[in-house]
Amino acid sequence: MNEITNILETLDYGPAPENTDLVRAWLERHDGRFGHFIDGAFRPSGGTFDVFEPATGRHLASVTQGTSADVDDAVRAARAAQPGWAALSGHDRARHLYALARHVQKHARFLSVLESLDNGKPIRESRDIDIPLVARHFYHHAGWAELLEDEFPSARPVGVCGQIIPWNFPLLMLAWKVAPALAAGNTVVLKPAEYTPLTALAFAELAADCGLPAGVLNIVTGDGSTGAAIVGHGDIDKIAFTGSTEVGRIIRRQTAGTGKFLTLELGGKSPFIVFADADLDAAVEGVVDAIWFNQGQVCCAGARILVAEAVAERFETRLKARMKTLRIGDPLDKCTDVGAIVHPVQLDRIRKLVSQGAREGAVLHQTDAPEGCFFPPTLAVGVEPASTLAREEIFGPVATLTEFRTPEDAVALANNTKYGLAASVWSENVNLCLDIAAQVKAGVVWVNCTNIFDAGAGFGGYRESGYGREGGREGMMAYLSHPEPKASGTEPEVPAPQAAPGGGAAGAGIDRTAKLYIGGKQVRPDSGYAYAVAGGGHAGLGNRKDIRNAVEAAAKASAWGAATGHNRAQILYYLAENLSARAAEFEARLRAAGSGVEAARGEVEMSVRRCFWYAAQADKFDGAVHQTKSAHVTLAMNEPVGVVGIACPTSVPLLGFVSTVLPAIAMGNCVIAVPSQLHPLSATDLYQVIETSDVPAGVVNIVTGMRDELAKTLAQHDGVDGIWYFGSAAGRKMVEAESTGNLKQTWTEEDAARNWMSAEGQGRRFLHRATQVKNIWVPYGE
Ligand code: NAI
Repeated sequence: MNEITNILETLDYGPAPENTDLVRAWLERHDGRFGHFIDGAFRPSGGTFDVFEPATGRHLASVTQGTSADVDDAVRAARAAQPGWAALSGHDRARHLYALARHVQKHARFLSVLESLDNGKPIRESRDIDIPLVARHFYHHAGWAELLEDEFPSARPVGVCGQIIPWNFPLLMLAWKVAPALAAGNTVVLKPAEYTPLTALAFAELAADCGLPAGVLNIVTGDGSTGAAIVGHGDIDKIAFTGSTEVGRIIRRQTAGTGKFLTLELGGKSPFIVFADADLDAAVEGVVDAIWFNQGQVCCAGARILVAEAVAERFETRLKARMKTLRIGDPLDKCTDVGAIVHPVQLDRIRKLVSQGAREGAVLHQTDAPEGCFFPPTLAVGVEPASTLAREEIFGPVATLTEFRTPEDAVALANNTKYGLAASVWSENVNLCLDIAAQVKAGVVWVNCTNIFDAGAGFGGYRESGYGREGGREGMMAYLSHPEPKASGTEPEVPAPQAAPGGGAAGAGIDRTAKLYIGGKQVRPDSGYAYAVAGGGHAGLGNRKDIRNAVEAAAKASAWGAATGHNRAQILYYLAENLSARAAEFEARLRAAGSGVEAARGEVEMSVRRCFWYAAQADKFDGAVHQTKSAHVTLAMNEPVGVVGIACPTSVPLLGFVSTVLPAIAMGNCVIAVPSQLHPLSATDLYQVIETSDVPAGVVNIVTGMRDELAKTLAQHDGVDGIWYFGSAAGRKMVEAESTGNLKQTWTEEDAARNWMSAEGQGRRFLHRATQVKNIWVPYGE
């Protein structure tokens, strides 16, 4: 009786352990040793490393360290299987994906337990979140396979995909990558993280059981060196990576110039913004899901709590009270809220960052945690915005709490990070929430909710959080190639410009020298030099300083991105009209540059039409409302990339400029364009057209000069969010390799690959390049 009274008073939970027999039996069946899964079967194990249960330190299995030869074998199997897999009808591929979804559901309990043992995450999470979402992903993508020909009529699979995934959601990350790849007709070589390879191996076995053709899915285990062998493999068409920003940079550099498709889903330091009128109790529960879910080892974890000054004290008190009730411990106990950290190396990383934070003045509020590979849920207050805890991704159960006064302060604090993965906004005023959602630089914004995922909505970041989206239609597009032209003609010869005085104040022939166009003004190049242009005339020889000034001017013009599509359309129609009115002048310029009469007329006419087309698209290339599986509407908004550098095509100087700059500005980007180095004057003649068309100052900046030198400065500049480059193979490699500083989005293409006079020179693909999707989750219908 006493005991019952005691229980009722303390409300302590008794343990409710999940049974692990099924998993132990499976491990025994494999003798606790695993080889790679290649071409439909397990290879013998060899050269193994050990995998441990993080919660107990107990040995779980020995897994093979993949060598380059293993990666070669896997790629060969994937390559051989790819044409057959792609040749199946969408319906047939869909049936395989449905079968995978059903098998996951059938083995859900086994997979949940294995995941929790291997990763340390609470069984409640693997059972209720990870594994159901895995099944959901395969169902959803079975649907895309079924509808592929209807929904993506001209698309083709990319080919063989190398996929490298992290340890925080081992099977879910596999599903995010494998389901769209297979739906689109690709085959896969996937490497799970070295700490958590077991559910990927179990999944491979399920796939074989349900008849997935051999070679379609290959799993190679190993550490970063195995990953690097995949990234560097010459016969892989696409790399998809999720993991640290640091490794993302290495991969961007390693793939530069190889023509491999690349998507990167990297780190984050997401804000969790609580306004004074928020439902504070709901927001406190939100914090639990934001930062203590999966021990905070979540790329989109709400790690920076920003709370309105007026309620900060109340909020902190309630949050601390809630922290006391979190149950930390055995991941296999169904009552556990916070489990083990994935590995002692990660625990050590978290400890070091938190100690550093404490040395920098943070005051830590922590709960208790068991001995071993556990870290207590932690709230850090008194954290300066520039300090370690506020800036670094900790990837542990550690949140900072900072106060703000006004919504403007909140936005400034939220955006004060190099990342841009996610954000969460809490207020009972939906107007305020949506206003803030529009201003936060993040790929996902949750309104009055947090850490909600669904296969039907895209997920992915802005800025150094990477590029590409996973999930939904956007995610499918990342595994499809469109009949983009591939290497047809040869690169036109671009002789190095001969510098001649002329751009500077004292230069001879100054009146005939076209200046640069920066911030709405014609300016002389900083170098003081011009270069002679074939066919007559001089153009300014721009340098790094000019590019920097142009980037600054573009950044100042960012209001263009917030203008309505209708406003932008009006200005672009006006531009089209003004260009049309001066057609004869532009034709004459092209003829002077060597075009025949018909060619010159055709190029000008096409340029005018293209301006009209992009003007028409400015208010039509809009987003979508996704039907996700929870009670939310998910608004997928097309937002501009930001400041975009464009090294324009060489051969059609006017049309090349119009075909690249117009889609970018139609979508709200501000541009620094480097026109054709050979014939820059068709672009510089546009200054007056741009001015008279009311294009705001700084939206289009034009810097003439040496394409590759200027493109390099653009690629290296952290104020540039995206770079498009049409030029030589060496230049393409350079641009991709130099873009790693802020991981800007790149689009590089052989100069002569595209026939700009044809339909290849225009289209929605250009608009996709000019936008990034922000998914905003809003509660709906509950
Ligand atoms: P990581 O980025 O090193 O590991 C992720 C995956 O990349 C693993 O499969 C790993 O084997 C592989 N890898 C490592 N080096 C590679 C290379 N050079 N080429 C190809 N693949 C390579 O992440 P790690 O070291 O496990 O964790 C370190 C930090 O990274 C964490 O504390 C966290 O801040 C961040 N992280 C972020 C993740 C996210 O989802 N955004 C996931 C995992 C870690």
